Amino acid sequence: HAPIPFHGAHQAGIATPVQDRLHFAAFDLTNPTRGRVVALLRLWTAAAERMTAGMQVGGGALGAPLAPPDDTGEALGLPASRLTLTIGFGASFFDRLGLERPAALKALPHFPGDKLDPARSDGDLCVQACADDPQVAVHAVRNLVRLGFGTAGVRWSQLGFGKTSSTTPEEQTPRNLMGFKDGTNNIPGADAKLLDQHVWIGSEGPKALAGGTYLVARRIRMHIETWDRTSLKEQEDIFGRTKGEGAAYGRTREHDPVDLARLPADSHVRLANPGSLGGVRILRRGYSFTDGSDGLGRLDAGLFFLAYQRDPETGFIPIQRALAKTDPLNEYIQHVGSGLWVCPPGVAQGGFWGQGLF
Ligand code: HEM
Repeated sequence: HAPIPFHGAHQAGIATPVQDRLHFAAFDLTNPTRGRVVALLRLWTAAAERMTAGMQVGGGALGAPLAPPDDTGEALGLPASRLTLTIGFGASFFDRLGLERPAALKALPHFPGDKLDPARSDGDLCVQACADDPQVAVHAVRNLVRLGFGTAGVRWSQLGFGKTSSTTPEEQTPRNLMGFKDGTNNIPGADAKLLDQHVWIGSEGPKALAGGTYLVARRIRMHIETWDRTSLKEQEDIFGRTKGEGAAYGRTREHDPVDLARLPADSHVRLANPGSLGGVRILRRGYSFTDGSDGLGRLDAGLFFLAYQRDPETGFIPIQRALAKTDPLNEYIQHVGSGLWVCPPGVAQGGFWGQGLF
């Protein structure tokens, strides 16, 4: 695969094809002054330009023998692996720097069933690193963390494998840890019209964020062991789609259009489908995770849900309100981490991430 271009009208890592691996990191500013933060964003942008092109950071991993090398070195000899780095700014980023906060960037409401761990939620900034090679994604975040020393520190991070959504409907749809095809009815990354309508911030402002988007992250734990004792029929009823083909009930092929009336009234797909929610749509780009066991003999596994939208009020929030209330999936999942950030538009040659805000 060719490297994914870093520069452009929109940040890469959103509508671009979903890679196999994720390293997501949320940061808090340790020195919240505009001068320091702008200097860091310039440094990060320069490093991101190089790493996404498959190059080493700064002077590389093998510089002067008596100094620590600029690059940590574990990606030496590896290709760019379609690495994308996508940045987002949280409400607290604007507040702490005294910048005007966009109206849509406020705390997400509490949803029934939420059991959010503050140590896995929020953050002044976030960086989503996606690549086909986990070592490349981890290298990228590690080197950004290193450059952030003195200005920003990691608050929490999450590794992901096995994309659970695709933006390329012509390719095989991946499966989540419940064994179901996930991302069938997602916004395709090549559909500029749908992206403009539902994903990219438009003229509603602020101007510096036009072409950007809002990112919602939810760490969703799955009670895998309980799920695995559930009958196939019940599993399928919960989604309203078949497990093998992924076809909606009453249809034969995966991509046949959903006929809402033929799905169980409280099935996940029926509740989340735009036809039930006045046309609401989001771009899903999540990953599976397994962080070992939880000390009680159960897998600490689930879906690290990532969704991009033009405005959370007309994206994630109404969908999650509907799901949190009646989705039968709730018996098998729990939301344990959460965050909302605004991703600035893409970077032009010579520019830096979030430049328009300063
Ligand atoms: C559809 C799984 C959480 C929004 C689907 C589908 C599956 C699935 C298997 C059907 C295939 C597809 O169209 O992609 C899961 C699992 C979840 C989860 C296992 C949690 C662990 C969520 C959350 C949201 C969401 C939190 C948003 C708040 C959607 C939407 C669709 C969908 C919008 C497409 C519905 C349609 O247009 O037909 N999900 N999902 N899902 N899900 Fe989820």
